[in-house]
Amino acid sequence: MIINGKQIAQNLKEQMREQVAALSAQYGRKPCLNVIIVGENPASLSYVKSKIKASEYCGFDGELIQLPETTTQDELLRIIRESNEKDNVDGILVQLPLPKHINEQYVINAIAPEKDVDGFHPTNVAKLWLNQQTIVPCTPLGIITLLEHSGTPLEGRHAVVVGRSNIVGKPMAKLLLDKNCSVTIAHSRTANLASICRDADILIVAVGRPQMITADMVKPGATVIDVGINRTSDGKLVGDVDFESVAPIAGAITPVPGGVGPMTITMLMQNTIEIFIQRNNK
Ligand code: GUN
Repeated sequence: MIINGKQIAQNLKEQMREQVAALSAQYGRKPCLNVIIVGENPASLSYVKSKIKASEYCGFDGELIQLPETTTQDELLRIIRESNEKDNVDGILVQLPLPKHINEQYVINAIAPEKDVDGFHPTNVAKLWLNQQTIVPCTPLGIITLLEHSGTPLEGRHAVVVGRSNIVGKPMAKLLLDKNCSVTIAHSRTANLASICRDADILIVAVGRPQMITADMVKPGATVIDVGINRTSDGKLVGDVDFESVAPIAGAITPVPGGVGPMTITMLMQNTIEIFIQRNNK
């Protein structure tokens, strides 16, 4: 089975659009998401445009704040603080990665935790690991939603997460633990990666390397979630999993594109709505 992330994301966005119409009438204003991008990285630009398009579809207000590559760290921090102060702004997102002269950690720390739609602020990360109510990072949350929609049982299963980033690998492992999976966190330098992956009932790969996972590394019937987005030399978009050889033996698999990516954006919409509701009920 190919897990149709694009379709699941679309269905959820339709539901959210109705929810947002009702919430906007109830509270007298629309949820508002500000997306900030520094520089011209084509992949990042395409992601932020998709985020704005989805937020318009869902009936949000918001702005794409496009800043030149030469923006200083101080200027960026000032713009973030302005958004923090604006009462009508619910969610603030700064697209990563940032140019090298800007310290990413300072930027993440500057976003007001209650407006941090990405769930990257240290306060929100800590709350996640302490099982306190918080904003959950969009990609891992989208993957849990996909697994549930695909009918993959989680409790008591062995999940292997290949990748240990703050954005995907680490929060992913935590969410799977919460679903009573046993979790192994591996990475690109894990010694016996093939045999560890072969033991996975659920294999989630977020490394950023094409062909990282080949058919010999997958247990027949396993659910395979491909978080990778890589561009080949001839411009084709591919994941971290060799889809052609793995798809025939996997029980379920996400394609690239059309798998995890659209779910990340949909969860961003969900997080913005959640923040909007919370801020209106304070
Ligand atoms: N860069 C890659 N993924 C993400 C994400 O989920 N949020 C932000 N802000 N930047 C990213």
